[in-house]
Amino acid sequence: MTTNTATPKTAYSEINNLVYRSYLPNIISAAIDIGVFDELRYKPMSCAQITDVCGADERIMDALLEVLLALTYLEKDKSIYKLSPLADEFLTQASEFNQLGAIKQFTTHNGPLANLTEALKGNIVDFDQHAWSNESAMRGIEQGTKAGALQNVLAFVKEIPEFKRAKKMCDFAGNSGYYSYAFLNENPDLHAHVYDLEQVCKIALQIKKDEKNYNRVSYHSFDLIKGDDFGCDYDFFFSSHFLYKYDTPESLACILKRINKSMKIGALFVSNHISGGMKGDHHLTLCIVELITRSMGFPTHCLKEDMLRKALLDTGFEIISTKAPNYRLAYPELILAARKIQDV
Ligand SMILES: C[S@@+](CC[C@H](N)C(=O)[O-])C[C@H]1O[C@@H](n2cnc3c(N)ncnc32)[C@H](O)[C@@H]1O
Repeated sequence: MTTNTATPKTAYSEINNLVYRSYLPNIISAAIDIGVFDELRYKPMSCAQITDVCGADERIMDALLEVLLALTYLEKDKSIYKLSPLADEFLTQASEFNQLGAIKQFTTHNGPLANLTEALKGNIVDFDQHAWSNESAMRGIEQGTKAGALQNVLAFVKEIPEFKRAKKMCDFAGNSGYYSYAFLNENPDLHAHVYDLEQVCKIALQIKKDEKNYNRVSYHSFDLIKGDDFGCDYDFFFSSHFLYKYDTPESLACILKRINKSMKIGALFVSNHISGGMKGDHHLTLCIVELITRSMGFPTHCLKEDMLRKALLDTGFEIISTKAPNYRLAYPELILAARKIQDV
C-alpha cells in the first residue's frame, strides 16, 4: 500500500463546517442555562463580569462568547458584550416570543458538548491524552488529514532545499506517521523517526506494516508529559497539531529549545497548526473547535503566528517562509518553515 497524495477535487470544509453547526443547539442551550442572555439583557458586560454573575469558568465563558459573537447573537464594542436585537427577542426568558423550548428540543445528551453547562460551571474533566490511542481514532485522523491537509503540507515542504537534502527527520507526535510516509515518497534518502505515545506506536506498527517504505520509518514510544527524550541529529523536524498545549510564550520557548537541541545547525523546522484569524463559516467552526477543546480540559486549539515567530527567533531559529491557511481544508492551518541557525 502506498500513501495516496492525490488532492480531492471538492472542499472537505463544506461538509465539515456543516457538521460543526450541528453542535449549536447544545451551545446555545448551555448559554441559556447559565444565564448569559438573561444577564446581558440587564446591561452590557465584559467577559470577566459575565463570568462573575453567571458563576462560570472564565476561559470557557470566553470561548462561548466568541461562538455567540460569530453567530451575531451578541455584539462586541471593545471588550464589552451586549445582546443583538435577535437574541433580545428570541433568547431571553422575559421575551414573550422566546424560542427557549424549541432549542431544548434540539439539544442532545451525547457528543463533546453534552456536558458544556457543567464545564461552564467549572466542572471540567481532565484532558484525555489517549484520545488518539486506538485504531479507529488513528484511522480517522489519517483519513481526515488525507482530505487535503497532507497534500497542502507536502506541496510546501517538498520545494524547500533543506528538505531535499535531509536524511533524518523527526515526526513529532506523528501518530501512525502518515505525514512521514508522504515525505518519504518525495525524498529517497530520508529516514523518518515517528515519536508518539506507546499505545499509538504499537498500533501504528500493525496498521502500517504493509505500507510502502515501512522499513524507512522507526517508531519510538515517548510521553512528553514525562519529559521523555525525542532523539537527536535531525535534518528535518516536523511538528503538526501538537504545540497547542504550550500556550504561553515561556512554555513554547521551553519546548522549542528542546527541539533546537535535537536538530543539526542549518536543519529545517516545519510547523503546521491552526493559527486563528479566519472568516465566515471557518471562523464559526474554529470558535466551536476552541470551545470544545477548552471544555475537554485542553488549553487551546490555536497557535498564534506572532507568538510562534517570536518564540522561534528567541530559540535559535530564523523564519524561512510561510503558507497561508487554505480555506478548502477542514481546519485551515498556517504552515511555517524555519531554519536552525544557532545552538541554544
Ligand atoms: C492532534 S494529534 C496530531 C497528530 C499528527 N501530528 C497530525 O498533525 O495529524 C496529537 C498527537 O499527539 C499525541 N500525544 C498526545 N499526548 C502526547 C504526549 N504526552 N506525548 C507524546 N505524544 C502525545 C497523540 O497520540 C496524537 O497522535
